[in-house]
Order: sequence, then structure tokens, then C-alpha cells
Amino acid sequence: MSKISDPIKINTKTAKSRILMPALVCFNWTDENGFETVSRSEHYGKRAAGGTGTIVVEATAISPTGKLAEKELGLWSDDHIPQFEKIAKACHKEGSLVVVQLVHAGMQAFGDKVFSASAKDVKNKKCEEMRLEQINKVIEDYVSASIRAKKAGLDGIEIHGAHGYLLSQFTSKVTNKRNDEYGKDLDGRIKLPLEIVDKIREATGDDFIIGYRFGVNDPSFEEDIYFAKKLESAGVDLLDVSAGIGYDGIEVPETYNFSKITYMGKVIHDNVNIPVASVYGIRYPEQAAELLNDNNTDIVAVGRGLLADPEWTNKALNNEKVNACYYCEPWCKYGKDGNTCPWVLKKIK
Ligand SMILES: Cc1cc2nc3c(=O)[nH]c(=O)nc-3n(C[C@H](O)[C@H](O)[C@H](O)COP(=O)(O)O)c2cc1C
Repeated sequence: MSKISDPIKINTKTAKSRILMPALVCFNWTDENGFETVSRSEHYGKRAAGGTGTIVVEATAISPTGKLAEKELGLWSDDHIPQFEKIAKACHKEGSLVVVQLVHAGMQAFGDKVFSASAKDVKNKKCEEMRLEQINKVIEDYVSASIRAKKAGLDGIEIHGAHGYLLSQFTSKVTNKRNDEYGKDLDGRIKLPLEIVDKIREATGDDFIIGYRFGVNDPSFEEDIYFAKKLESAGVDLLDVSAGIGYDGIEVPETYNFSKITYMGKVIHDNVNIPVASVYGIRYPEQAAELLNDNNTDIVAVGRGLLADPEWTNKALNNEKVNACYYCEPWCKYGKDGNTCPWVLKKIK
């Protein structure tokens, strides 16, 4: 029996299945001010109806200066709340949990003036080191956006700590060269995300889900395991494990059938007691079942697979064939605008 259909408790809430839709930005579906131009309630509602246990709404900016692209959903103003209310209702109607991923892109932010843990030249612009008042503003913006997420009726938020964005830049020794309390050593580098977690918990209460997109930085895993345990102690409810900065040297045992990124999830899972989601390249239900049944993870994150097939989980449970994602190169065509994904085109024909 596959564990895909087993419910799982996250904080005080229960996800109806072990499949999670990780954050997946659809570019060109938003205007410059953080408002949707294409209905997200329909997009996420379909995946919720398709059996997905937990939906993580795509990377959403906590401030205009932290946007990762010119057009990205925002939650820096109360005016953004209604679009998330609609998403929450659509997912809850289908019995799925729904959280929003909150991001500050740091040196990868859109715009001419960018800031990070340390100064660095990036793509024709000079990134400056964040001063303490800017760090405090990031914390404030994370808290305010989380309060708005709660007002919108979402079950929680996911802090984006992976993929080389701001918090990844702080936790990685490759990009954090600070000599103050937010740098110097591992405890300094992880101080900012831990403070953000504390302040969000204080502001949103005990039963609000706080997830963390955990970017593994250290090929030996030593630093990451330490940090994962600190996040657990700080009250994080879900670790959604993916890539950080400087993980290239990770070696996957020969007996392990999945990717380097999926393996990172297994290692973190083996070292904490909160739910862990593992991701990457899970195209077929048999793969998800293998990961869960072999106790490699608590939750399987299916990204592009769920863009290709909103009914992925229901089909998995009914032993039906899923629309297998083509994993388009050089990048997912759904992410570009949602129109040129081969599976979307097939339906139009
Ligand atoms: C179109 C697209 C958009 C993405 N957007 C985000 C995002 O907003 N936040 C994030 O943490 N990861 C993002 N990712 C990474 C996915 O969450 C996921 O980790 C990745 O696609 C690997 O999973 P998969 O092999 O199941 O697709 C994105 C990936 C794609 C293809």
C-alpha cells in the first residue's frame, strides 16, 4: 500500500495527502505592483481538487525592493490581501492546506540598487552590504506579510531560504562575509532566519504554519543539520528541502535512486522530528510511493509534474496514468506564461 494517501499533521492542521505542490512562479501572470493578472484561485484550486495535500503558493515578495522579478505577486500591502483570500477559499473548498512562500531576493532582486549579506558585483550592478536598519526592515516586512497571509485565511507561510535568495545569501559562507552579529560564524549566519521565525510566531500565534524552504549549503551536511535542528527548536513546522549555495560537492550513495536534491531531503529528514518535504524530478507516482514507503521523507513535493497534471495525486491514488511532465529545456514552458506547456497545448487541440 502506498503512503501517498496517508494524511499528515503539520502544526495543528492535517494535510489530506503526502503530496505537496512546491512554490512555482508563473511569470507574466502578475503586474508590476504585485497584483495577479491571471486567476491564481483557479490555478491552485484545480491542484487542490486534484488531491494535493498542501499547496505552497509561488514566491511572493515581502517588499517592492525584494522582488525577484519585475512582475511577481506581492504581499507588502493590505491591498494584496483579497487575491490571497480567493486562493485560500479555493484550496480550502477542496480540503487542502495552503500557505504562501515569502521571499526577499537580496542580490538577485529586480531593480538597480540591490543589497545582500555582503557586497558583491552581480550582473552589471553592484550589490551593497545590508546595514542593520535594513536587516530590521526585512524582519518587519516578513512579519507584516505573514500577518496579511493570516488575515487572508491562509494556513501559514513558507519562508524562502533556498535558491540563492536573501536568506540563502545570509546562511551561506560563500556569500556572507560579514564581521558583525549576522556573520562571522555559523550562529551569526543563521541568526537572521531564526529571528524572522521567532517574530512571525510571536505575531501570528501557535497554530499558524511556518514552513521553511531549506536550501542546503554544506556538502558535508554538518552545518545544515545544525541549522535544521535550530529551525525545529524555533518552532518551524515544515522543512521543504531544496538547494542552497555551495552544495555541489554532495555525494549520493549508489543505492539511492533519486537526485542530489532529493537526497538532501532524506538527510534532513533523518535528523529532525518535524515533517520534511523532498523534491526534484518526481514525475511518476511510483517514485513518490518509493520515497515514502522507504521512509526517505514525510512528504513528496511534485513541482513540474503538478503543472503538467493538476490531477496528479488523484490519478496516483486511482492507479491511473499521469500526464508525465516533459521537463522542457532550457526551462519549464509553463513557468514562462502557462500557455506553451506541451500538456496545456494538447488539451487545446
Ligand atoms: C516554473 C518554475 C517556477 C519555480 N518557482 C519557484 C518559486 O517560486 N519558489 C521556489 O522555492 N522554487 C521555485 N521553483 C522550484 C520548484 O519549487 C521545484 O523545487 C523544482 O521545480 C523541482 O521540482 P520538480 O522536479 O518536481 O519540478 C520553480 C520551478 C519552476 C520549474
